[in-house]
Amino acid sequence: MVRVSSTIFIIVTSVILVVANEEINLRVKRQEEDPEGPDVGSIEELCHDRPADEYFRLTTEGDCRDVVRCDNAGENGITRLATVRCPIGLAFDVTRQTCDWKSNVKNCDQLGKPRKVLPILKTDEPVCPEGRLSCGNGECVEKELFCNGKPDCKDESDENACTVDLDPNRAPECDPTQCILPDCFCSADGTRIPGNIEPQQVPQMITITFNGAVNVDNIDLYEDIFNGQRQNPNGCQIKGTFFVSHKYTNYSAVQDLHRRGHEISVFSLTHKDEPNYWTHGTYDDWLAEMAGARLIIERFANITDGSIIGMRAPYLRVGGNKQFEMMADQFFVYDASITASLGRVPIWPYTLYFRMPHKCNGNAHNCPSRSHPVWEMVMNELDRRDDPTFDESLPGCHMIDSCSNVQTGEQFGRLLRHNFNRHYNTNRAPLGLHFHASWLKSKKEYRDELNKFIEEMLGRNDVFFVTMLQVIQWMQNPTELNALRDFQEWKEKCDVKGQPYCSLPNACPLTTRELPGETLRLFTCMECPNNYPWILDPTGDGFSVK
Ligand SMILES: *[C@@H]1O[C@H](CO)[C@@H](O)[C@H](O)[C@H]1NC(C)=O
Ligand SMILES: *[C@@H]1O[C@H](CO)[C@@H](O)[C@H](O)[C@H]1NC(C)=O
Repeated sequence: MVRVSSTIFIIVTSVILVVANEEINLRVKRQEEDPEGPDVGSIEELCHDRPADEYFRLTTEGDCRDVVRCDNAGENGITRLATVRCPIGLAFDVTRQTCDWKSNVKNCDQLGKPRKVLPILKTDEPVCPEGRLSCGNGECVEKELFCNGKPDCKDESDENACTVDLDPNRAPECDPTQCILPDCFCSADGTRIPGNIEPQQVPQMITITFNGAVNVDNIDLYEDIFNGQRQNPNGCQIKGTFFVSHKYTNYSAVQDLHRRGHEISVFSLTHKDEPNYWTHGTYDDWLAEMAGARLIIERFANITDGSIIGMRAPYLRVGGNKQFEMMADQFFVYDASITASLGRVPIWPYTLYFRMPHKCNGNAHNCPSRSHPVWEMVMNELDRRDDPTFDESLPGCHMIDSCSNVQTGEQFGRLLRHNFNRHYNTNRAPLGLHFHASWLKSKKEYRDELNKFIEEMLGRNDVFFVTMLQVIQWMQNPTELNALRDFQEWKEKCDVKGQPYCSLPNACPLTTRELPGETLRLFTCMECPNNYPWILDPTGDGFSVK
């Protein structure tokens, strides 16, 4: 048998390592030639029917750190094995497809993920009567029962091909004759400007967003950026969007952000640091987490105007159709968790009545496949190349702190301006700048650079720092730059002055049976509840005893 040449095993690849709270992008070193590697014939066999993004082991001996995947992108159509090694102390979990602490990995004795039986969806001649589709074992089952979250085929294959591209009941592709503003917006590749306005007449909207708890660690940062002096070209103060998680949040500070016209949105109640909890969350999990978080904010930040209409999934782990079904039932208007990979032209937000117009690249591939009456405020990846004229192929990044190559204020400034120009000089899709406050606070030069960028942008007359809701309002009523001064939707809470509702919030020391042994402080202008609000008891009134 022919031995593969040494180059075949040399490949650089990366794997996401999930440890504690952080997703660390690990670059794995080049693996040198593996003299014991399998030969071409057995590679073909190993890779038959195996997805190119699935990692598996060649052996169960050793320390459980090494895995490979099939790479079909090689020259001459030869399939090669790309290798990855977890850092010392970690092991590769083939079920979850990630490196983790060795003690957490229970499948070192398995070579790969258990194979799932797939339904037979593509056949030259129909194999089932009309309205039915074939399971993997040839059984015919009603089409509606495929991908409904419950196995109906005896081999359960009806639940195994449910991605945006495969779900037999997926939303249809964008039909511009059916999808009409103000309620529906879509375009074939996602890049079209609403209202077919000429790019030169489109305001360049920038959405600054923050994820996480609002508290003493970051209130000063928000005061600094949104200092009340900075105004958009229409004379109104610049605005931001806050995706608030519950634990450690100071609700009197949230109340004041809302008073000053910023948008409050939800980032879940528990922010549980287990990414798969979100990816595989049930309808009830999403309901308790997101509707529960909204209830807490409304009550303890006294937000009574129904303005909390958006959400972002922790770790951007979108929960597929379940999440969006819950959103529609609970009147959430938008999600802001789906990422679009870096392309030549950025994507405008879209509604999900029709199929999403780009690949589901991150988000653990669990994007919604069905039709939902929900806006997707898509996160366009940023181009982080330090010198964009020099074409090194670095993938884009969605949160600014995941642009890990940015280390200095100067680099951050270049990132902001380069990506601004990418949006401004093409279709002027809203530019999202998504932050964790801790990153901006980690170096003074980052904060200075952001402030400098904002001032510079406000020196023009066609750039607006707006909230997610304001983006939707503009898209629903696309208005050219020269008429924007009088655009009423953007005049609300235009120039807010005055003092917070309360100068001395209650600092309620609270416990809950759900978090035994923890005493947490809840800061609010409202009355203290009996218990610390948590997932089974979001009002803090106590468990209802039935
Ligand atoms: C909570 O927020 C309010 C309003 O911004 C502020 O006055 C108060 O000092 C904050 N409390 C803590 C402990 O951060
Ligand atoms: C809560 O909001 C309502 C309605 O806006 C207002 O009447 C009330 O005074 C507020 N209460 C506190 C404590 O801020």
